[in-house]
Parts: sequence; C-alpha cells; structure tokens
Amino acid sequence: MAKFLMITATSGTNLELAERFAGVAREKGHDADVVDLVEMELPMFTVARSSDPEQTVDVSELTQQMIEADAWIVVAPEYNGSMPPTLNNAIAWLSGDWQNFRTMCTGKPVGLATHSGGGGAHVIMAMRQMFSFIGADVMGRALTSGRNKEANPETIEAMIDNLA
Ligand SMILES: Cc1cc2nc3c(=O)[nH]c(=O)nc-3n(C[C@H](O)[C@H](O)[C@H](O)COP(=O)(O)O)c2cc1C
Repeated sequence: MAKFLMITATSGTNLELAERFAGVAREKGHDADVVDLVEMELPMFTVARSSDPEQTVDVSELTQQMIEADAWIVVAPEYNGSMPPTLNNAIAWLSGDWQNFRTMCTGKPVGLATHSGGGGAHVIMAMRQMFSFIGADVMGRALTSGRNKEANPETIEAMIDNLA
C-alpha cells in the first residue's frame, strides 16, 4: 500500500480530477490525500517577504505531507502555455529551505495531470521541466484532458499502479 498526495493548483475541474485520482488510489487499497493550493491563500513569494519574520509564511504542514507521501500527483490547468501562479508560488515558498527541499524532492515519484481549456500539453511540459529540475522522478506517462477531451480512466489507473 502506498501513500499518495494529490496536489491541485486550482479548485475547479482540476480539483475534481485530483479527487478522481484519489478515489481510484483508495479503491486500489492505497492512502490518498488531496491538497488544494488555492485554499492555502499564499501571498506572492518575494525574497523580501520570505526574509521578514512578520510576513513569511509557514508551509511546514504541506512540507510534512509531501515528505510523508510515497508519491505525488500534481494536477494543474494550463495558463498561458505554462503553469498557473498558484503552483509556481507554492514551490517558491516550499523551496525557501533549499537543502531540505532538495532532499524532499530527490527521487520522489511524481505523476502529472491536467484539465485545461485546450489539450494541456504545455502545462505538462512546464511541470515536467520544473519537477525534474528539483530532482523528482517524473513519470513519462501523463494525463491530459480538457473541454473537448475526457480524462482516460485507463491512464489514471496506469499512473496509480506505476507510481505505487
Ligand atoms: C489566466 C488563464 C490563462 C489560461 N490559459 C490557457 C492556456 O494557455 N491553454 C489552455 O488550454 N487553457 C488555458 N486556460 C483555461 C484553463 O486551463 C481551463 O479553464 C481550466 O479547466 C481551468 O481549471 P479549473 O476549472 O480547475 O479552474 C486559461 C485560463 C486562465 C484563467
């Protein structure tokens, strides 16, 4: 049994998709939690804000959840051919403690998924680049879905099976 953490960058169709991944994982006997980055309402990361004790943000709870998970599935819509600011911003806050962040990410199995307006190929590429850069073991197969493309249930199952 594996412990999954589904991380969604938005609270609409991508949250639904993250919940769907979590449901399939649970049906297969795994543990699965979903974290919605929108609900965290993180202020925009700046070096000045992160170095000011009065303004910095405590992301230790999310860090702990990410450490405890055996695998992450990151679900995000495409924004302007890339990833949405909620995801980029959360990663910037998480990487404040750079050495621990690298340790947490190194070798972590990560699956990528999207529900976007179009195909979503660009957000998958953007997330693949970032998560590979920070040392994660990003799975080759990813799930793309959008207004004109239903999420393929076989891909969801295969991703869970391969990440577990
Ligand atoms: C600021 C902004 C930029 C967007 N840019 C793109 C884009 O480049 N490509 C695309 O396919 N969809 C784009 N979309 C559409 C979203 O990917 C789509 O509406 C997605 O399903 C939203 O996810 P949500 O329902 O979880 O909020 C954009 C939406 C917004 C708000």
